[in-house]
Amino acid sequence: MGSTITGTGSYLPEKILTNADLEKMVDTSDEWIFTRTGMKERRICPENMASSDLGAEASKKAISDAGINPDEIEMIICATITSDMVFPSTACIIQNKLGLDNIACFDISCACSGFIYGLELARNLINSGQYRKILVVAAECMSRVTDYTDRSTCVLLGDGAAAAIVSYCDDEYGIIDSYLGSSGKYGNLLYVPAGGSRLPASHETVSGRLHFMKMEGSALFRIAVNAMSDAIKKIFERNNVNPEDVSLLIPHQANIRIIQGVAKLTGFPMEKVFVNIEKYGNMSAASVGVALDEAVKSGRIRRGDLICMVAFGAGLTWASNLVRWGKNG
Ligand code: ACO
Repeated sequence: MGSTITGTGSYLPEKILTNADLEKMVDTSDEWIFTRTGMKERRICPENMASSDLGAEASKKAISDAGINPDEIEMIICATITSDMVFPSTACIIQNKLGLDNIACFDISCACSGFIYGLELARNLINSGQYRKILVVAAECMSRVTDYTDRSTCVLLGDGAAAAIVSYCDDEYGIIDSYLGSSGKYGNLLYVPAGGSRLPASHETVSGRLHFMKMEGSALFRIAVNAMSDAIKKIFERNNVNPEDVSLLIPHQANIRIIQGVAKLTGFPMEKVFVNIEKYGNMSAASVGVALDEAVKSGRIRRGDLICMVAFGAGLTWASNLVRWGKNG
C-alpha cells in the first residue's frame, strides 16, 4: 500500500500589499524589491481572520477537489508557525471549522518546510496501515509577525494557506520518497524572540518589537541555496532520478535569486521550475502548497508526471520529496 495526493486546494486573502504600498511605509523601492527578490505583491489576512480561517477555506477546496465526504478524514496535520493561539493547536481549530470531531489533529512547526514535512508524516502513517485519509494543511499569517518598520524583512512576507488530501493507494502513483533535515545551530538566523516560554509577553517585549520576526538575510540566502540543492540531490540519488526525469520542480518561494541558484546547482532549466513569487511573496509553509495547487489547476502537472517539491525554513529545516502524480486533470 502507498499514499497519494487525491486533492489540493489553496486560499489567498483578497487584500493585496504591493511594492508601491511598501514604498509609502519604509525606505524602499519597487525596483529594489523586484530585482532583489522577484516579488511584486503579497496577500494580507484581514483583522477578523486568522491562520485557521485561511486553512479551513483551503481545506474545503481540497476536500471538494478530492471528491470525498469530510467525514472520511481521519487526521489533520497543520503546518504553521503563526498559529491562531499558543494553544490549542490550529489543526483542532480547523477541525471544528470543518464540522469534524473525534479524529487526531495536531500542528507541526517546521516553518517553510512544513508542507513537505506534513506530507511525509501523512505518507508514513498511511503506509503503516493505520490511516487511509489525512488532511495536510499549511496555513500562515506571516503579516502578524512582520515588523512593517523593518525594510529588510517586511517586503518579503505574505499570508495564505494550502491543503492536500493524502489517501492510501494500491498503484504505482503517489508520494515516492521524502528527505527531511534540520540544523538547530542556525536557529538564531530566523526567529521571533518573544511570546513563548523564554520571553513571555510583557510591556518590554512589546515596546522592544520582540514579537516580530528577526532575520539574518544574507547568511540565510547562502544556506538556503545549498540546503535546497543538497536536498534535491540526495533524494534524486536515493531514487536514481535525474532532472530530465522530473517534469516540474516546485521550490519554496523565498527569493527568485535563491530559486535560480538552486535550479543552476541542480541542473534544472527555469522552464521546469514553478514560480509564483511575484504574486504572493514568501508565505512560509503555505508557499509550496499554494504553488502545487496552482501548478495542478493550471495544467502544469498531469497524471504520470514526476514532480519534486523542495523547501527550507526557520529551524533551520529543509525538505524535498518526489511524487508521481496520480490524479487526473
Ligand atoms: N529596500 C531597499 N534597500 C534594502 C531593503 C529594502 N527593502 N532591504 C535591505 N536593503 C539594503 C540593505 O540595508 C543594504 O544596504 P547597505 O548596503 O547600505 O547596508 C542593501 O540593501 C543590501 O542588503 P543585503 O541584505 O546584502 O541584500 P541582499 O541582496 O542579500 O537581499 C534579502 C536581502 C532579500 C533579504 C536576501 O538576503 C534574502 O532573500 N535572504 C533570504 C531571506 C529568506 O529566505 N528568509 C526566509 C524568511 S521566512 C521563514 O522561513 C519564516
